[in-house]
Amino acid sequence: MGNPALSTEGLLAYCRPGFEPDLAAELSHHAGALGLPVYAKTERGSAFVMLLGAPRETLAESIRLEQLIFARQKYALIDELTDLDIADRVSPVIDALGGKGRYGELSVETPDSDAARPLAGLAKSFGNALRPALRKRGLLTDKPNAKLPQLHVIFLSNRHLLLASSTENDRSPWPMGIPRLKQDSRAPSRSAMKLDEAILCLMTPAERLNLIAAGMQAADLGAAPGGWSWVLAKNQLHVSAIDNGPMSPDALATGLIEHIRADGFHWQPQRPIDWMVCDMVETPSKVAKRMAQWFANGWCRNAIFNLKLPMKKRWEETALCLDLFQSQCGRPVLIRARQLYHDREEITVFVHALK
Ligand SMILES: C[S@@+](CC[C@H](N)C(=O)[O-])C[C@H]1O[C@@H](n2cnc3c(N)ncnc32)[C@H](O)[C@@H]1O
Repeated sequence: MGNPALSTEGLLAYCRPGFEPDLAAELSHHAGALGLPVYAKTERGSAFVMLLGAPRETLAESIRLEQLIFARQKYALIDELTDLDIADRVSPVIDALGGKGRYGELSVETPDSDAARPLAGLAKSFGNALRPALRKRGLLTDKPNAKLPQLHVIFLSNRHLLLASSTENDRSPWPMGIPRLKQDSRAPSRSAMKLDEAILCLMTPAERLNLIAAGMQAADLGAAPGGWSWVLAKNQLHVSAIDNGPMSPDALATGLIEHIRADGFHWQPQRPIDWMVCDMVETPSKVAKRMAQWFANGWCRNAIFNLKLPMKKRWEETALCLDLFQSQCGRPVLIRARQLYHDREEITVFVHALK
C-alpha cells in the first residue's frame, strides 16, 4: 500500500506504448532546465512515465501539457497503491487522499497498454463503488464541477493503482488523452484522420475559425493518395497536391484538388499561399529544413507537417529538428508539436507565422 514515507508523488504522463523512453527524456529535459532534482520511472510498453522526486504542485505547475510533445495526458501524481486487497480497494484510496482536497469529477481509467487495457471493465465498476464513498466524505461534489481538480484513479493491475489529479486548464479534454475521431468512409486514406486530429488538437477553436476558411489556397507536399488534400478540400480550401504518385479519384472528384506531379522538395508556389501541409517520408532534418525555407521565403502563413522518427533517440532528434526549424524559419512563429494518437513513428507540427 502507499507509504507516505516513501512518497511516490510527482508527475504522471501517458504516451503511445513504446515511446516511454522518449517521454521520459523529454520530461527529464524540462525538469533539468528548471533545476528540479527529479528522476523518471517507467517501463517499456506501459504507456506512462512517472517523474518523481519533487512536490507534485511544483512539477504540475512548471511542466505544462501544452509544451510536451510525447505526452497524451498529464496529471499530478498523488500516490501509488500496491498489493491491494481486492475485497476492499475503496478504503485505501480514501486513506491515501487523507481527507484532503475536494474534487469536481472522478475518472477511473487505465493507461493505453496491452497489460492495462483489459482492466477497463474493472475501472468502470470501481468508479461506481468509489464515487458514493468519496461523496460521503465530502471529497467529491455531487454534480461535476470543472472548476475543481479532477481525481484520477489509474488501474495498472487489479491490485495496483495510481492516484492523480488534474486541472481543467492543463489536461487533455479527452479520456486518456485520446480523441475519438470517426473515420469518414469517403476519405481516400486513413492518413486523413491524422490531419483531422492535428487540426483538432494542435489548433485552438479560435485559430480553426480564423485560419481555415473557404477559398484559401493550400499546398500538400507528398499528397498521394490524397487523404490530407481531401481534408483540406472538405474545409473548402483549394489544394495543389504535389506527388509523383497517383491521387485517388475520390480526392480529385472534390473539384478543389489539382494534382501536380513534382518533387515536394523543389516545388514552390508562384505566390504566397495560406497553408502548406507535408507528409513526405524523408529524414526529419531534411523535412525541417525545407519547412523552414517555406516560412523564411514567406511562401505560406500556416503549416502542418510530420517529422518521421524511425530512429531510437526520438526525443533528441525531435528537439534537434525543431531547433533547426526555428533557427532557419527567419520570422517569429508559433510552433506546437505533438505525437498525435494517429501518429505512429512520427510527430506532427503546427506552425503559424506571427508576422
Ligand atoms: C505517407 S504518404 C502521404 C499520405 C497522404 N498524406 C495521404 O493522406 O494520403 C507519403 C507520400 O509522400 C510522397 N513523397 C515522398 N517523397 C516525395 C517527394 N520528394 N516529393 C513528392 N512526394 C514525395 C510519396 O510518393 C507518398 O505518396
